[in-house]
Amino acid sequence: MDEITIPRPDDWHLHLRDGAMLEGVLPFSARDFARAIIMPNLVPPVVTGADARAYRDRIMAALPEGLDFAPLMTLYLTEGTDPDDVARAHASGLVTAVKLYPAGATTNSHSGVRDLAKVMPVLEKMAAIGMPLCIHGEVTDPEVDIFDREARFIDTVLEPLRVRIPELKITLEHVTTSNGVDYVMTATDNLAASITTHHLMINRNAILAGGIKPHYYCLPVAKRESHRLALRKAATSGNPRFFLGTDSAPHVDPLKECACGCAGIFTAINTMACLAHVFEEENALDRLALFASRNGPAWYGMPVNDETMTLHRTTAPAAWPERIETGDGPVTVFDPMVPIHWEVV
Ligand code: NCD
Ligand code: ZN
Repeated sequence: MDEITIPRPDDWHLHLRDGAMLEGVLPFSARDFARAIIMPNLVPPVVTGADARAYRDRIMAALPEGLDFAPLMTLYLTEGTDPDDVARAHASGLVTAVKLYPAGATTNSHSGVRDLAKVMPVLEKMAAIGMPLCIHGEVTDPEVDIFDREARFIDTVLEPLRVRIPELKITLEHVTTSNGVDYVMTATDNLAASITTHHLMINRNAILAGGIKPHYYCLPVAKRESHRLALRKAATSGNPRFFLGTDSAPHVDPLKECACGCAGIFTAINTMACLAHVFEEENALDRLALFASRNGPAWYGMPVNDETMTLHRTTAPAAWPERIETGDGPVTVFDPMVPIHWEVV
């Protein structure tokens, strides 16, 4: 196959940031994706319906003329979140989901949840109105090895939560382990998972072998090869519970290339080309549309996009800038470390 046409894809997990960074990165996502779930971990976070409305307005104001893009807003769950505010924001169509960050799990997550008991009224309300919860699934206990944090979260937090509120619809975001894949596959109802582009392409060697490579550092951190293979299998299987959430998370280079670098990989520019490469390697190009365009909308109860995207095979390796310039500074683009012979037409 030298060319593939799929319904225009969506990104079910995206960091757009704000201000000059938003202006710098938004055009790349809006060029390829019709819709994206927008992460609320700004400083300060997007907590209330009013915050989400203001942020959505800033995104729409930053959208270049002629690009068609719908931001699907999320609220950052805090221990002070008001269940009625959440329900109103959802009923009005403004907000698609609520995001749970365990406090301290990742970039800008200090206002996250410490004690799940404190947010039960919000979660019960969400279950009652059918509003999905997006979860960053890692425990933050410093005693737990960072490579085990997702598996531990599933056993000690996610499973008990699902037993307590089985009606709550949960997206386990950016799943990175075979444990996560297995858990999602065997769950009966109300559970799905997004998978990033980079976790399909790199394992932890990318970060640590041959020198420390901060541009491959993200959270959840990439795991060993067997986990990457499990993710590839799940993503390319066509199973409706798995779909694309790029977790494209730009940080300016000085904040990545330093003694305590930020977590996050910027993949908005080359995600679709990289995915075509992965699906071709797995002999699953015919299932790319399920992963990138169909399974996500089915899970979130939305129509598949009418427009299409065509990718075609290139003779020379596809090229993109090594880094982009934003008003906040340079941002390095994800380097998949293998030649990619696909491009979006
Ligand atoms: C994200 C960010 O930079 O906001 N970083 C990351 O490594 N993915 C936060 C997140 O989604 O964990
Ligand atoms: Zn993220």
